[in-house]
Amino acid sequence: AVRRTTVPQIAARKGGVPIVSLTSYHAHTAAIVDKYADFILVGDSLGMVMHGMETTVGVPLDLMIMHGRAVVRGTKQALIVVDMPFGTYEESPNRAFRNAAKIMKETGCGAVKLEGGKRMAETIHFLVERGIPVMAHTGLTPQSSHVMGGFKTQGRDEDTWAAHEDDAKAVADAGAFSVVLEGMVERLAARITKQIDIPTIGIGASVECDGQILVLEDMLGLNPRPPKFVKVYGDLLNQIESAVATYAEEVKARTFPSDDEVYR
Ligand code: KIV
Ligand code: NA
Repeated sequence: AVRRTTVPQIAARKGGVPIVSLTSYHAHTAAIVDKYADFILVGDSLGMVMHGMETTVGVPLDLMIMHGRAVVRGTKQALIVVDMPFGTYEESPNRAFRNAAKIMKETGCGAVKLEGGKRMAETIHFLVERGIPVMAHTGLTPQSSHVMGGFKTQGRDEDTWAAHEDDAKAVADAGAFSVVLEGMVERLAARITKQIDIPTIGIGASVECDGQILVLEDMLGLNPRPPKFVKVYGDLLNQIESAVATYAEEVKARTFPSDDEVYR
């Protein structure tokens, strides 16, 4: 049996071979990603991608647990990280511990991720001390999009850099094993990567980060309007459309099912 990538193995990749990561919410796709990714994130972006929500704010804990369990079942190699959804960890370290423990027990994942810098440092420390590995997430934090007035690239104004740098230092000092830097200007992400001793995972950030992550459906070409920072490596939208269109024609023409697809 192949042993899964561990949290210390990810932490040890600081400044080394870049860490490969993608999201997955689904057993069959996770099994493919598992062959190539060091860790797989069951992101709360599943609210938008899988369930048609406008933001991630409405994602319930049980939904994260259902998808987390599916991805753990579908994989054997990658570290599985599950997002803590909005409203399940911000209030207090105790509440965060209770919900993070529930996620870990019910999914079998190896770590959780939560959004926020300085303001979440105490909670990150509390969880890590009690056996829950935490990946942090700073910069553009989609769960705060209502406060920020949308999904806004961070660090365009250099006066804000110190605050972002303090956030990244705070989560590293608190014991996070890694931090996602999302949606920030390239030079800021590169600076933060040099300043802290845990791996940074970039999304809309910098090639200088210690690793990269993308939403799987975005990079596969399933999102009709992908954000600028996505490189589209696949053509799923067109492939699915042409498969469905061909199927529809064959059903109507009675050419499907053919002899091959029926029991004689
Ligand atoms: O929910 C998500 O997919 C994420 C990644 C984009 C980092 O948090
Ligand atoms: Na997320």
